[in-house]
Amino acid sequence: MAVKVVLATKNPHKIEEILAILGDIPGIEWLTFRDIPFSDVEEAGETLEENALLKATAVARETGLPALAEDTGLEVEALGGAPGVRSARFAGENKDYRANNERLLELLRGVEDRRARFRTVAVLALPDGRTWMAEGVLEGRIADSPRGEHGFGYDPLFIPEGETRTLAEMPPEEKNRISHRRRALEGIRPALKGLVSPAEA
Ligand code: IMP
Repeated sequence: MAVKVVLATKNPHKIEEILAILGDIPGIEWLTFRDIPFSDVEEAGETLEENALLKATAVARETGLPALAEDTGLEVEALGGAPGVRSARFAGENKDYRANNERLLELLRGVEDRRARFRTVAVLALPDGRTWMAEGVLEGRIADSPRGEHGFGYDPLFIPEGETRTLAEMPPEEKNRISHRRRALEGIRPALKGLVSPAEA
């Protein structure tokens, strides 16, 4: 019988990317909020690590199933690492992706140092309290204006190192091959495989 694991996020873009990256593990049946209800968890932590842990442990406790969560931030060098853990609310509560991107471009107007990185922290939590954590980083720089229709969030403004295209100009398979999210989730893959075949983990 398959091991059920809950995706502890309600962001449809994240769900799509996580399933594209980890959906191939034999013996795991992924459940989303559409299959099993769980409460929203306030991202009250001061770090990506705290928020990912909060989300995964709360959903594992509430559903009684293993839960996978991740928290992602864009860390801009010239802004001292901002927006970082506040990436979702950069332009204010209830603001959309476009407002966040406009605010970022505004703050970087005339700034030569465009270096930035995406950082994802992924956590797998079990109902018994055990947790695994992994980090993934994608280095790059902030473009002068938004480009591309794929992806979400800051993707139209983020050019990975060694690239000329933004993440939003890459087809989803390409983003998912190199992304911060891919790198963090690969760090969790062994623990997920261990849920299916404990002896081999
Ligand atoms: P959170 O992990 O849900 O707190 O995400 C924070 C914010 O970062 C989101 O609102 C998005 O704007 C942005 N974000 C998260 N992941 C990505 C990504 O893969 N590409 C671009 N922006 C992202």
